[in-house]
Amino acid sequence: MMGRTRIRGLMSARFALVAVAVFVVAGPCATGLGAQAPRNGEAASSVPTVERQPYDTRAFMAPLALTEAERNGRRLVAQRCANCHGANPRQPGPLLGKPVVEGRGEAFIRDKVKKGSTLMPGFEHTLQPAQIDEIISFLRTYTPPPRSAPAAQE
Ligand code: HEC
Repeated sequence: MMGRTRIRGLMSARFALVAVAVFVVAGPCATGLGAQAPRNGEAASSVPTVERQPYDTRAFMAPLALTEAERNGRRLVAQRCANCHGANPRQPGPLLGKPVVEGRGEAFIRDKVKKGSTLMPGFEHTLQPAQIDEIISFLRTYTPPPRSAPAAQE
């Protein structure tokens, strides 16, 4: 009688040991699944988050206030000038717009755009005088926002 009880006790002790071993091995795997590190630039979660951006529909739908010449000038500035004169602190050119045209005068701007400088290409051979006029007419309509804070190193 005594012998049987001892054996049963031993077996349940062994079972408990196996259960602990299984938990020790499987535990980290189970908990690790949720917190998988991002791979190949993919986020661990595949559930997209929705960000709401309220905007003013009336302002969005309002007809453009620019004339055709000013619109052409805006396109030219975006294509030829914004790369250096955008509001990005890493771009070398000063902000362009109404303050520069009024401060420097049209003749100076026209000359600068034609001749450029050591830091700026001249557009004498790639922009027609009428296009430079369109650029200036657009710049007169535009007041640039203050430059953004220095960008973090990438
Ligand atoms: C490759 C870069 C680059 C491009 C493209 C560029 N600029 Fe510039 N621009 C500069 C730099 C740098 C300066 C400041 C140094 C200088 O005055 O030469 C400058 C200066 C100017 C100035 C003088 C501003 C002032 O207050 O002295 C004007 C006006 C100007 N750019 C207009 C333009 C226009 C208009 C275009 C497009 C047709 C243009 N730039 C394209 C780099 C550029």
